[in-house]
Amino acid sequence: MSTLESVSNPTRPVLEVLSGKRQAIPPVWMMRQAGRYLPEYRATREQAGSFLDLCYNPKLAAEVTFQPIRRFGFDAAILFSDILVVPHALGQTVSFTAGEGPRLQPLVTAGNVGRYAGAFDKEKLAAVFEAVRLIRAGLPPEVTFLGFCGAPWTVATYMVAGEGTPDQAPARLLAYRDPATFQRLIDSLVEASITYLVEQFRAGVDAVQLFDTWGGILPPAEFDRWVIEPANRIVYGVRAQVPGARIIAFPRGAGTQLERFIDRVPVDAVGLDWTIDLAFARERIQTRVAVQGNLDPLLLIAGGDALDRGVDAVLEAFRDGPFIFNLGHGITPDAPIENVERMLARVRGR
Ligand code: CP3
Repeated sequence: MSTLESVSNPTRPVLEVLSGKRQAIPPVWMMRQAGRYLPEYRATREQAGSFLDLCYNPKLAAEVTFQPIRRFGFDAAILFSDILVVPHALGQTVSFTAGEGPRLQPLVTAGNVGRYAGAFDKEKLAAVFEAVRLIRAGLPPEVTFLGFCGAPWTVATYMVAGEGTPDQAPARLLAYRDPATFQRLIDSLVEASITYLVEQFRAGVDAVQLFDTWGGILPPAEFDRWVIEPANRIVYGVRAQVPGARIIAFPRGAGTQLERFIDRVPVDAVGLDWTIDLAFARERIQTRVAVQGNLDPLLLIAGGDALDRGVDAVLEAFRDGPFIFNLGHGITPDAPIENVERMLARVRGR
């Protein structure tokens, strides 16, 4: 490769891992890396108005996407947005109340579901695609740019309940009582997710992550139907339009069901949460697909020796294969920045 080529076509370590190539020092990023634990995020957030105003302001969304890259030099930047912009683009009312999380007009009847099925309008997310273009243009060349969407099951749990709940009982009940209606909702979210992710690729992301935060709450038959099958259709549907599209899946809490997940869903990596057995993940998952994870986010609050030991256990488990260092879920607003620095120094061997 000539020097010119290597300058215009630099390696992106996260993308290398997604092609199955182990890196001597694992690349690292954090879920929710642009968020309230950063003073610069809180300042921009105040300037923007509401949380959704920030998501739909391309310049400010790009700015907060860059903030953790500038501060910590992460190997991946994740588009700043939210999984609930998809229900918004289906016509559902969505808002975020400070300290209380999302509020949506709950979907309780089949008639309600019918109103949103097939209604996805990608034009409503034009501001998100504009943010993607701005981020692509401003990102250092070695940083991998990740887009994302919520997986249908997780998005449906918020659409049905109208808010976050501890056990997602409203969506689970609807799926048991009226599986045909629930299937229509999932089908419309599969279609919307494919369109949304394809548009993110066209606007400039390198890879995408599918967040199924609530996947692990389902028993096996429901996990197959509402988590695995929709993910399978999304992966094939996106790659039909974007050949070779790189995709990370994060079915949080899947545990040993991850084996069945990767049997059916040919993703390039799976995100692991902090509850997974490390030996199981190394032997049964990482031998088949790259892994990403899985430090307990609470260790970034605990700090000190507990943090060091947690980082070492994750590095030790996964360093011999394709691996991206991350948390097992998003960083929390109360995590001290010094602990993020401490974690990074240890991962990078400094
Ligand atoms: O990871 C990133 O930095 C990219 C941006 C991102 C956000 N949300 C920003 C956000 C991503 C990828 C998400 C995904 C998301 N959103 C998920 C799946 C992953 C996960 O974390 O479980 C879910 C379930 C949501 C829905 C959602 N958005 C909830 C339940 C909440 C409230 C909880 C909270 O932390 O306040 C949000 C709000 C939200 N999304 C914030 C951020 C930075 C905080 C809102 C604020 O700044 O006021």
